[in-house]
Amino acid sequence: MKVWIILILALATGLILVGCTQEALKADVSGKEKETVNVAEKEEVTVAEDIADAAKADLESSRLETDEFAITVYKSPNCGCCTEWEKHLEKAGFKITSKKTDSITLVRKELGVPEKMQSCHTGIIAGYLVEGHVPADDIKKLLKDRPTEIAGLAAPGMPKNSPGMQSEGKPPKGYEVLSFDSNGSSKIFTSYLESPGNTDQ
Ligand code: CU
Ligand code: CU
Repeated sequence: MKVWIILILALATGLILVGCTQEALKADVSGKEKETVNVAEKEEVTVAEDIADAAKADLESSRLETDEFAITVYKSPNCGCCTEWEKHLEKAGFKITSKKTDSITLVRKELGVPEKMQSCHTGIIAGYLVEGHVPADDIKKLLKDRPTEIAGLAAPGMPKNSPGMQSEGKPPKGYEVLSFDSNGSSKIFTSYLESPGNTDQ
Protein backbone atom coordinates (compact mmCIF):
# COMPACT_ATOMS: atom_id res chain seq x y z
CA MET A 1 0.00 0.00 0.00
CA LYS A 2 2.73 2.44 0.98
CA VAL A 3 4.55 1.61 -2.26
CA TRP A 4 1.48 2.60 -4.27
CA ILE A 5 1.13 5.93 -2.49
CA ILE A 6 4.78 6.72 -3.09
CA LEU A 7 4.45 5.75 -6.76
CA ILE A 8 1.35 7.90 -7.26
CA LEU A 9 3.01 10.84 -5.50
CA ALA A 10 6.12 10.45 -7.63
CA LEU A 11 4.02 10.33 -10.82
CA ALA A 12 2.03 13.39 -9.82
CA THR A 13 5.20 15.33 -8.98
CA GLY A 14 6.66 14.28 -12.30
CA LEU A 15 3.58 15.49 -14.17
CA ILE A 16 3.59 18.79 -12.33
CA LEU A 17 7.27 19.23 -13.12
CA VAL A 18 6.77 18.50 -16.82
CA GLY A 19 3.83 20.90 -16.88
CA CYS A 20 5.82 23.68 -15.26
CA THR A 21 8.74 23.23 -17.56
CA GLN A 22 6.50 23.46 -20.57
CA GLU A 23 4.89 26.63 -19.21
CA ALA A 24 8.32 28.07 -18.56
CA LEU A 25 9.41 27.18 -22.08
CA LYS A 26 6.32 28.77 -23.52
CA ALA A 27 6.94 31.90 -21.48
CA ASP A 28 10.53 31.94 -22.62
CA VAL A 29 9.63 31.57 -26.29
CA SER A 30 6.97 34.26 -26.17
CA GLY A 31 9.40 36.48 -24.31
CA LYS A 32 11.97 35.99 -27.05
CA GLU A 33 9.40 36.57 -29.77
CA LYS A 34 8.37 39.80 -28.15
CA GLU A 35 11.96 40.92 -27.93
CA THR A 36 12.57 40.14 -31.60
CA VAL A 37 9.41 41.96 -32.68
CA ASN A 38 10.47 44.99 -30.68
CA VAL A 39 13.91 45.04 -32.26
CA ALA A 40 12.41 44.66 -35.72
CA GLU A 41 9.97 47.49 -35.05
CA LYS A 42 12.78 49.75 -33.91
CA GLU A 43 14.89 48.88 -36.93
CA GLU A 44 11.98 49.45 -39.26
CA VAL A 45 11.28 52.87 -37.80
CA THR A 46 14.92 53.87 -38.23
CA VAL A 47 15.01 52.63 -41.80
CA ALA A 48 11.69 54.30 -42.57
CA GLU A 49 12.85 57.65 -41.25
CA ASP A 50 16.07 57.37 -43.22
CA ILE A 51 14.28 56.55 -46.42
CA ALA A 52 11.77 59.38 -45.94
CA ASP A 53 14.64 61.82 -45.40
CA ALA A 54 16.43 60.43 -48.44
CA ALA A 55 13.30 60.90 -50.54
CA LYS A 56 12.99 64.53 -49.46
CA ALA A 57 16.66 65.09 -50.28
CA ASP A 58 16.08 63.47 -53.68
CA LEU A 59 13.19 65.84 -54.36
CA GLU A 60 15.39 68.84 -53.50
CA SER A 61 18.36 67.69 -55.59
CA SER A 62 16.09 66.78 -58.53
CA ARG A 63 15.40 70.51 -58.97
CA LEU A 64 19.09 70.99 -59.81
CA GLU A 65 19.43 67.84 -61.92
CA THR A 66 20.87 68.71 -65.34
CA ASP A 67 19.76 65.50 -67.05
CA GLU A 68 16.08 66.20 -67.54
CA PHE A 69 15.27 62.52 -68.08
CA ALA A 70 16.74 61.40 -64.76
CA ILE A 71 13.96 60.06 -62.56
CA THR A 72 14.14 58.46 -59.11
CA VAL A 73 11.44 55.90 -58.35
CA TYR A 74 10.44 54.82 -54.84
CA LYS A 75 8.58 51.52 -54.82
CA SER A 76 7.92 48.52 -52.62
CA PRO A 77 10.27 45.54 -53.14
CA ASN A 78 7.63 43.12 -54.43
CA CYS A 79 5.76 45.30 -56.89
CA GLY A 80 5.82 43.85 -60.40
CA CYS A 81 3.78 46.60 -62.03
CA CYS A 82 6.17 49.26 -60.70
CA THR A 83 9.03 47.55 -62.53
CA GLU A 84 6.91 47.30 -65.69
CA TRP A 85 6.21 51.04 -65.46
CA GLU A 86 9.94 51.70 -65.10
CA LYS A 87 10.55 49.65 -68.27
CA HIS A 88 7.94 51.77 -70.05
CA LEU A 89 9.79 54.93 -69.00
CA GLU A 90 13.17 53.50 -69.99
CA LYS A 91 11.83 52.71 -73.43
CA ALA A 92 10.74 56.35 -73.69
CA GLY A 93 14.28 57.57 -72.88
CA PHE A 94 14.13 58.09 -69.12
CA LYS A 95 17.04 57.12 -66.87
CA ILE A 96 15.81 55.45 -63.73
CA THR A 97 17.24 55.27 -60.26
CA SER A 98 15.09 52.72 -58.47
CA LYS A 99 14.78 52.74 -54.69
CA LYS A 100 12.98 49.91 -52.94
CA THR A 101 11.37 50.48 -49.57
CA ASP A 102 8.88 48.80 -47.26
CA SER A 103 7.89 52.28 -46.13
CA ILE A 104 6.44 53.67 -49.34
CA THR A 105 3.44 55.10 -47.46
CA LEU A 106 5.72 57.13 -45.23
CA VAL A 107 7.84 58.25 -48.19
CA ARG A 108 4.70 59.41 -50.00
CA LYS A 109 3.50 61.29 -46.94
CA GLU A 110 6.86 62.98 -46.42
CA LEU A 111 7.05 63.98 -50.07
CA GLY A 112 3.57 65.47 -49.87
CA VAL A 113 1.62 63.21 -52.20
CA PRO A 114 -2.05 63.84 -51.31
CA GLU A 115 -3.83 60.76 -49.99
CA LYS A 116 -6.41 60.84 -52.79
CA MET A 117 -3.61 60.62 -55.38
CA GLN A 118 -2.03 57.46 -53.99
CA SER A 119 -0.83 54.63 -56.16
CA CYS A 120 1.91 52.00 -55.89
CA HIS A 121 5.09 53.96 -56.64
CA THR A 122 6.34 57.53 -56.44
CA GLY A 123 8.67 59.06 -58.99
CA ILE A 124 10.73 62.21 -58.48
CA ILE A 125 11.81 64.27 -61.48
CA ALA A 126 12.83 67.93 -61.86
CA GLY A 127 11.26 68.87 -58.54
CA TYR A 128 7.98 67.16 -59.45
CA LEU A 129 6.32 64.06 -58.05
CA VAL A 130 4.98 61.40 -60.37
CA GLU A 131 2.56 59.11 -58.53
CA GLY A 132 1.53 55.83 -60.09
CA HIS A 133 1.09 54.68 -63.67
CA VAL A 134 1.49 58.02 -65.44
CA PRO A 135 2.39 57.58 -69.14
CA ALA A 136 5.87 58.73 -70.23
CA ASP A 137 4.32 61.22 -72.66
CA ASP A 138 2.63 63.06 -69.79
CA ILE A 139 5.92 63.35 -67.93
CA LYS A 140 7.52 64.73 -71.10
CA LYS A 141 4.70 67.28 -71.38
CA LEU A 142 5.28 68.21 -67.74
CA LEU A 143 9.01 68.69 -68.35
CA LYS A 144 8.33 70.84 -71.40
CA ASP A 145 5.81 73.17 -69.75
CA ARG A 146 7.20 73.11 -66.18
CA PRO A 147 4.09 74.60 -64.55
CA THR A 148 4.98 76.29 -61.27
CA GLU A 149 1.59 75.90 -59.61
CA ILE A 150 1.60 72.11 -59.39
CA ALA A 151 3.53 69.62 -57.25
CA GLY A 152 3.20 66.71 -59.63
CA LEU A 153 1.16 64.26 -61.65
CA ALA A 154 -0.79 61.24 -60.49
CA ALA A 155 -2.70 58.27 -61.79
CA PRO A 156 -4.47 57.35 -58.54
CA GLY A 157 -5.07 53.70 -57.78
CA MET A 158 -3.97 51.12 -60.33
CA PRO A 159 -5.75 51.79 -63.63
CA LYS A 160 -5.80 48.50 -65.51
CA ASN A 161 -5.14 49.93 -68.97
CA SER A 162 -2.14 52.02 -68.01
CA PRO A 163 1.57 51.62 -68.80
CA GLY A 164 2.96 48.99 -66.45
CA MET A 165 -0.47 47.43 -65.95
CA GLN A 166 -0.97 46.23 -69.51
CA SER A 167 1.38 44.93 -72.19
CA GLU A 168 3.93 47.50 -73.24
CA GLY A 169 3.12 49.59 -76.28
CA LYS A 170 -0.64 49.63 -75.78
CA PRO A 171 -2.09 53.12 -75.46
CA PRO A 172 -3.39 54.21 -72.07
CA LYS A 173 -7.15 53.99 -71.76
CA GLY A 174 -10.01 54.46 -69.35
CA TYR A 175 -8.48 56.76 -66.74
CA GLU A 176 -7.36 60.31 -66.09
CA VAL A 177 -3.92 61.61 -65.28
CA LEU A 178 -4.30 64.37 -62.73
CA SER A 179 -2.06 67.23 -61.71
CA PHE A 180 -2.06 68.08 -58.02
CA ASP A 181 -0.73 70.90 -55.89
CA SER A 182 0.71 70.89 -52.38
CA ASN A 183 -2.71 71.65 -50.88
CA GLY A 184 -4.12 68.45 -52.31
CA SER A 185 -6.33 69.96 -55.00
CA SER A 186 -6.18 68.30 -58.38
CA LYS A 187 -7.09 68.95 -62.00
CA ILE A 188 -7.31 66.78 -65.09
CA PHE A 189 -3.93 66.86 -66.85
CA THR A 190 -4.73 64.32 -69.57
CA SER A 191 -7.90 62.31 -69.98
CA TYR A 192 -7.64 58.84 -71.49
CA LEU A 193 -11.28 58.05 -70.77
CA GLU A 194 -12.28 58.13 -74.43
CA SER A 195 -9.00 56.91 -75.89
CA PRO A 196 -9.51 54.68 -78.92
CA GLY A 197 -7.30 51.88 -80.16
CA ASN A 198 -7.12 49.81 -77.02
CA THR A 199 -9.33 46.80 -77.18
CA ASP A 200 -8.06 45.08 -74.07
CA GLN A 201 -10.73 45.28 -71.40
CU1 CU B 1 1.22 49.57 -59.86
CU1 CU C 1 3.99 50.78 -59.05
